[in-house]
Amino acid sequence: MKKYGYFDDLRKEYIITHPDTPLPWINYLGTDSYFSLISNTGGGYSFYKDARYRRLTRYRYNNTPFDSNGKYIYIRENKTGKFWSTTWQPTRHTMEMYQCQHGLGYTTIQSQAEKIHSNVTYFVPLNENLEIWKIKITNHHTHTVDLSLFSFVEFCLWDAQGDATNFQRNFNIGEVEIDSATSTIYHKTEYRERRNHFAFFSCSEPLKGYDTQREKFIGSYHSMESPVVVENGNSLKSHAHGWAPIGSHHIEVTLEPEQTKEIIFILGYSENKKSEKFSPPDSQILNKEKVNQKITYYKDPKNVEDAFIALKRYWDQLLSKFTIDTPDVHTNRMVNIWNQYQCMVTFNLSRSASFFESGIGRGMGFRDSNQDILGFVHLIPEKARQRILDLASTQMPSGGAYHQYQPLTKRGNHELGSNFNDDPLWLILSTVAYLKETGDFDILKEDIPFENQKNSEKSLLTHLELSLKYTLDRLGPHGLPLIGRADWNDCLNLNCFSEEPNQSFQTTANKEGKIAESLFIAGQFVYAAKQMNELFIYLKMVDKANHYSGAIQKMEEAIVQHGWDGEWFLRAYDDRGHKVGSHENNEGQIYIESQGMCLMAEVGKKMKLATKTLASVHRHLATPHGIMLHHPPYTRYHLELGEISSYPPGYKENGSIFCHTNPWIMIAEAMNGNPEQAYNYYLRINPSAREHLSDLHRCEPYIYAQTIAGYDAPTFGEAKNSWLTGTAAWNFVAISQYILGIHPTFNGLTIEPKVPQTWLEYKVSRLFRGVIYSIEVKRVEEGENPSCEVDGIQVNSSTIPLPDVSKKEVKVLIKIP
Ligand code: BGC
Ligand code: NOJ
Repeated sequence: MKKYGYFDDLRKEYIITHPDTPLPWINYLGTDSYFSLISNTGGGYSFYKDARYRRLTRYRYNNTPFDSNGKYIYIRENKTGKFWSTTWQPTRHTMEMYQCQHGLGYTTIQSQAEKIHSNVTYFVPLNENLEIWKIKITNHHTHTVDLSLFSFVEFCLWDAQGDATNFQRNFNIGEVEIDSATSTIYHKTEYRERRNHFAFFSCSEPLKGYDTQREKFIGSYHSMESPVVVENGNSLKSHAHGWAPIGSHHIEVTLEPEQTKEIIFILGYSENKKSEKFSPPDSQILNKEKVNQKITYYKDPKNVEDAFIALKRYWDQLLSKFTIDTPDVHTNRMVNIWNQYQCMVTFNLSRSASFFESGIGRGMGFRDSNQDILGFVHLIPEKARQRILDLASTQMPSGGAYHQYQPLTKRGNHELGSNFNDDPLWLILSTVAYLKETGDFDILKEDIPFENQKNSEKSLLTHLELSLKYTLDRLGPHGLPLIGRADWNDCLNLNCFSEEPNQSFQTTANKEGKIAESLFIAGQFVYAAKQMNELFIYLKMVDKANHYSGAIQKMEEAIVQHGWDGEWFLRAYDDRGHKVGSHENNEGQIYIESQGMCLMAEVGKKMKLATKTLASVHRHLATPHGIMLHHPPYTRYHLELGEISSYPPGYKENGSIFCHTNPWIMIAEAMNGNPEQAYNYYLRINPSAREHLSDLHRCEPYIYAQTIAGYDAPTFGEAKNSWLTGTAAWNFVAISQYILGIHPTFNGLTIEPKVPQTWLEYKVSRLFRGVIYSIEVKRVEEGENPSCEVDGIQVNSSTIPLPDVSKKEVKVLIKIP
């Protein structure tokens, strides 16, 4: 199979050597508010905070080529009239060289055509709402060349939803302004209303010309491949009045042989602070002062260089909090670099904006964001803290949660409502992970409103208890949690069969009389409640701990009594009380989610159900490409199951390898004392270990994808929906906490290695509550016993407490059998 690139672990980059990757292989720029997506051929889009409401540039989903519209620079040799683009797309000309380096928060694309070499670096400086494109062009001819450069972005009319649909309005509202003195194009559509925001696109060179109207730049019956302005070598100084505003600078460059020229482009977002809001009739005057300062600053290459170095340092410092050195290269590079990087991206963007998520329908997911925190909390705990508070503020007094909220408003999204009954419990997992990481128990006392309503505040601890109560208030006929609209599996819609309420079951908790129950939520309840219990015990709140012990025990009994199918856990009972995920079913006999959750919660521990369950998972669900969601997949649509059966067999929720769930089984295997199997599953979906399969896998080899087509799909092994998936966080948890065995607890850092026998030793450096734990794990020598040494002193526990305050480092040596 073809290789499209390689990992450069030292530089922390993935280097793409062929531009025609099976799918766009992308990167994310921006760490806080301003984000920019960029593919290996310059495609992508930018937005400020909210991919729906503050979209700066336009992107066309579902297009051919797949990746249409981006951050382009055309180069034209004036004498010959030949032209090309520095990122291969959109011209797709023949190239003398091409290389794309995706790094942490930056992307550099080098290419050469007609002996003109270009090197463009795109990045978002820390704490700025702008992106830099720094281009260096070198002439490798033996004669002087005259070049014309044309930059190109197409502006989005801010609300990406309206932008993609409401053309009778859109074609009339576009407005721009050009400031030749600073080489800046302003996009100010919406500014005349109350909106107060605008975009700017500037450049470090004087302009020969510019264009701001797409039709003029491209030409009515031309395409991005050969815009008429580039063909002719002359910009038209067009002004957009409606239609499709773009930003294109025209720059002339003359280069002697081997001469290099550097040019900087700056694309950014600005908004006036409320107090600065210009009132009508001045409302059309842009507040350019702040912007001009930024532009002047970043036109200086020295400042750009400094910002780039600062960005690199930022990432080096973040990733230094958790580093490993193991015998396996795929584990090393994913854990040290890419998995943590992806955790940051999923934390920032939830499931909103990728090349597969349009940034329109989905804001921050309640369930999603809580899980993202699990893989992110060690990186920037302060941000995780704020996110937990934001999420809890959308919670309802019942304990229920809005399924999503818009990042800009932080308000719950009403359309999607609240009855995904697993949602509230995830808040417990994120909060406990935060507490274990930081020891910041004060967060539990924070007063947090419900549904963002003033004067409704209750402590975070109360919110967490309400999450448990929410489940307990909604139990079905078997004493198992009602599923509501769906649980983790959005597409298992077991209450959608009949509109008629089920008369045999009417309680206040379930006004609609819908009775479908979820074994996943049952397991999740036990898992979350046990963590709460541990917390109450730690906080010496004995009554509470006892209270929930009772609830846990009852739930476990219900699971074992009504949820055990003989060789695995059932998945659910549908609205008619029929089993889902049982050997009695023809299709969908066994599901992964309830196995994973119940085993992580140690349900049925006394009865030793784990080994049998895991054997069933292995037998029925495991494939060389990962573990499938369920099997056999549904071959026809089932009204009583809903969307799950709307997918063809082997895709997405209908029995694909839904990567998010695989780490649950890895964790269960590790907990059940089978490190070999845990690690084997880990490698099956590790993107780096799948790099050699790129033509089949198709998605980026440095990032987890949400789904890999299952055994029954015609494209078994093909990944889709890369980047924004809970797979990132959960895999990080599985490998770092359960396989490498380093997990934070209330009392210290616990180290319990569960690694394959072939590993003779490995090292981990882990920053925990301000202390660096330098951990070495080795195999015992012959005749030696397993042991743990902390700073040279033997200890009996695998939990290493924090040292004396004056100590900033502890050395741990663990010997394993
Ligand atoms: C997808 C799910 C997704 C849901 C969100 C479904 O079509 O299959 O994975 O969570 O949409 O809206
Ligand atoms: C993707 C969603 O983002 C996630 O919340 C859900 O659990 C999975 N799909 C499974 O349906």
